[in-house]
Amino acid sequence: MTIRPAQAGDHSEIYSLVQTAFATAKVSDGTEQDFVLELRRRDTYRPELELVAEENGQLIGHILLTILPVQGAPQGLWGLMVAPLCVRLEDRSRGLGGQLLHEGGRRAAELGYNALFLVGDPDYYGRYGFQNAVSLGFQNASGVPDQFLLARGLTPDALRDAGGALALH
Ligand SMILES: CC(C)(COP(=O)(O)OP(=O)(O)OC[C@H]1O[C@@H](n2cnc3c(N)ncnc32)[C@H](O)[C@@H]1OP(=O)(O)O)[C@@H](O)C(=O)NCCC(=O)NCCS
Repeated sequence: MTIRPAQAGDHSEIYSLVQTAFATAKVSDGTEQDFVLELRRRDTYRPELELVAEENGQLIGHILLTILPVQGAPQGLWGLMVAPLCVRLEDRSRGLGGQLLHEGGRRAAELGYNALFLVGDPDYYGRYGFQNAVSLGFQNASGVPDQFLLARGLTPDALRDAGGALALH
C-alpha cells in the first residue's frame, strides 16, 4: 500500500470511491463525491494535499486537505480543513484512515501549516489526536453541534491560546 498525491487521472476513480465509501458511513448526505469536485474548484485547493492510498493498482482510500482561513485567529495559525476522508469498505480497520490522517498532517506540516480542523465523530478522530475545537477556544461558525468540531495541532504550540471562528463548509 502506498499513499501518494492524487493525479488528475485518478479523479473519476476517486469520485466512485468516495461515493461508495460514504454509502456505508455513519453520517452522510450522499453528496460527498460532489463536494470533492467543489473543493477542487475553490482557491483553497492545494493538489499536493489531496492524497490517495493505492494497493494493487486500485485506490482504496482518499483524504483531502484544503486551506481553512480562521477569522480572528492569532497570527501564525495556518489551518487546513480535512474533508472528506474515506477508506473502501473491504479495507477498513487496517489503520488506513489513521495513516491517511498521519501522512496528510505530515505533508501539511512540511508545507508550513500547523493545525488541522474537521467536522467528524470525536470517537473516531479522538484516537488520532483530535480534540474538541470549542474547548480549545475556537468559535463554532460551522452550523454543526459543538461536539463534532475538532482540531489537531501539527506543532507543539500551534493551538496554545487558540481562538478565531471556524467556518467549515
Ligand atoms: C471512517 C473511516 C475513514 C475509517 O477508516 P479505517 O481505515 O477503517 O480507520 P482506522 O483503521 O484508522 O480505524 C478503524 C477503527 O475506527 C473505528 N471507527 C470507524 N468509524 C468510527 C466512528 N464513526 N466512531 C467510532 N469509531 C469508528 C472502527 O470501528 C475501527 O475500530 P477497530 O480498530 O476497533 O476495528 C472509514 O470507516 C470510512 O471510510 N467510513 C465512511 C466514510 C466516513 O464516514 N468518513 C468519515 C467522515 S467524518
